[in-house]
Amino acid sequence: MISFILNNQVVKTGLPSGSTLLDFVRYEKQLVGTKIGCREGDCGACNVLVGTLVGEEITYQTMTSCLTPLSNVHAKHVLTVEGINLSNRQLSPVQELMIVNNGTQCGFCTIGFVMSLTGVVLSKENPTYANVIKAIDGNICRCTGYKSIERAAKGLCETLAERPAKKPLSWLVEQGFVPDYLQNIPAKLQSLQQKLNQDSTFNDNGQKTDFFIGGGTDLMVQKPAIIRTSSTTNFLDDTQLKGIHIEGNLCRVGASTTVTEFEDSPEIQKMFPDLSKYLKLVSSTPIRNMATMGGNIINASPIGDMTIFFLALNSQVILKDALTQNSRTLPLKDLFLDYKKLDKTDTEYIESLQFEVPDNATYFNFEKVSKRTHLDIASVNSACQLKVAKDGAILQAHISAGGVAAIPKYLDKSSAFLKGKKMDDATWKTFSEVLDSEVSPISDARGSAAYKRLLLRQLVLAHFVEFKLNHWLAF
Ligand SMILES: Cc1cc2nc3c(=O)[nH]c(=O)nc-3n(C[C@H](O)[C@H](O)[C@H](O)COP(=O)(O)OP(=O)(O)OC[C@H]3O[C@@H](n4cnc5c(N)ncnc54)[C@H](O)[C@@H]3O)c2cc1C
Ligand code: FES
Ligand code: FES
Repeated sequence: MISFILNNQVVKTGLPSGSTLLDFVRYEKQLVGTKIGCREGDCGACNVLVGTLVGEEITYQTMTSCLTPLSNVHAKHVLTVEGINLSNRQLSPVQELMIVNNGTQCGFCTIGFVMSLTGVVLSKENPTYANVIKAIDGNICRCTGYKSIERAAKGLCETLAERPAKKPLSWLVEQGFVPDYLQNIPAKLQSLQQKLNQDSTFNDNGQKTDFFIGGGTDLMVQKPAIIRTSSTTNFLDDTQLKGIHIEGNLCRVGASTTVTEFEDSPEIQKMFPDLSKYLKLVSSTPIRNMATMGGNIINASPIGDMTIFFLALNSQVILKDALTQNSRTLPLKDLFLDYKKLDKTDTEYIESLQFEVPDNATYFNFEKVSKRTHLDIASVNSACQLKVAKDGAILQAHISAGGVAAIPKYLDKSSAFLKGKKMDDATWKTFSEVLDSEVSPISDARGSAAYKRLLLRQLVLAHFVEFKLNHWLAF
């Protein structure tokens, strides 16, 4: 039985664990404030806040309820728009700001914006204008235009400047941002059974009969009808699959680490100082709050951003068999055999990824070009890691690229070519020929094959511009 707190009420349901939170709140609980737009995670009309208990405190995150399987909110607090005004029936300052700044017309998108902005109110992040705008990067409005919503966001920064660092919830309640029942939610959550009993199920032939699911941001889009009526093995909250651990010179990233958790990790930030710049190009805030590393890799999209990132780290993937409990480790680049074909059985799942912690002589960069800068999948993406000697000689290179082959591609020949070389104009000329020889892009909606070849060359050049090696291309 899945149980969670919906606004101020404990709810229990025997519905299939793959059914969506959106359908549950609208059709089982008649909370129709949460809107249905695209049902594909793109518009944010269905955004709700999901609070997870960590110790005695709750962390609230925006999630698209259309892609959230019920299993993923077990033992959590779900806040819909109906739950933010309960006690006094007056509008919250966030709602007022949207109105006075003319941030709403037809109102269809408004609730999604209000929930994303209420997420800022409840978050521990500094409410700078940049952070507030980032929080609404997954919300689309088709009639108001964004200037008035940006004014509401600016007003929110100003109002939240008063928010005390200590006991902010009492202040938020006093100011009418959220109702006072929120103060009792941690204690209420503690009394719910924390673990959802749902181990993988198999038939007599040892075949799996349910679905592994991480954040659901791929599976719920690919197979919505099937998943909504199926049971799922929830990986998102499996503590065995969570966390970032550094042991010696190895960094191990649990498969269910979300993109947001990866971005927020101080250890990972130290290794990749430009991390937030890279990850800003990956989906949107609510999707990053849900999307896991394991899901990105198993999705096996030739343009999966996190897959391209980990390929350039020369990562290894640790697979575990849910039936036999046996584990094996293989280079991530060897997992991809052909288009969406993996060296993995149906009963195997990713436990973690591991890579060598970069040292001071190691450079890393990630580049992505899509038709739209934000909230779009790549036309071509690429990552590169180089280890460089003091005299500028490249000791080791790992380059990956997406959108240029049937699989997310580790560029073996190009990486091997660079070893021992110093980058200069002559090396670049031969290198770019090697690069071109090992890719086979196809023409599709994201660009012609010729465009993608040229784009890859430019993205790899961009890596070297960022690295400023030997003062080659250092401008
Ligand atoms: C609006 C939107 C925007 C997006 N933008 C981007 C983008 O910019 N870049 C990008 O790369 N992707 C993007 N995606 C795709 C998706 O978000 C990512 O691929 C994400 O990382 C998938 O992770 P998940 O946990 O949600 O996967 P899920 O949907 O939960 O699972 C995906 C697949 O992996 C399997 N799986 C999950 N975890 C494991 C595991 N540990 N072991 C074995 N199998 C597992 C599932 O069974 C399923 O087959 C976007 C998706 C949406 C909806
Ligand atoms: S309905 Fe569009 S993001 Fe959920
Ligand atoms: S107000 Fe109509 S879509 Fe935003």
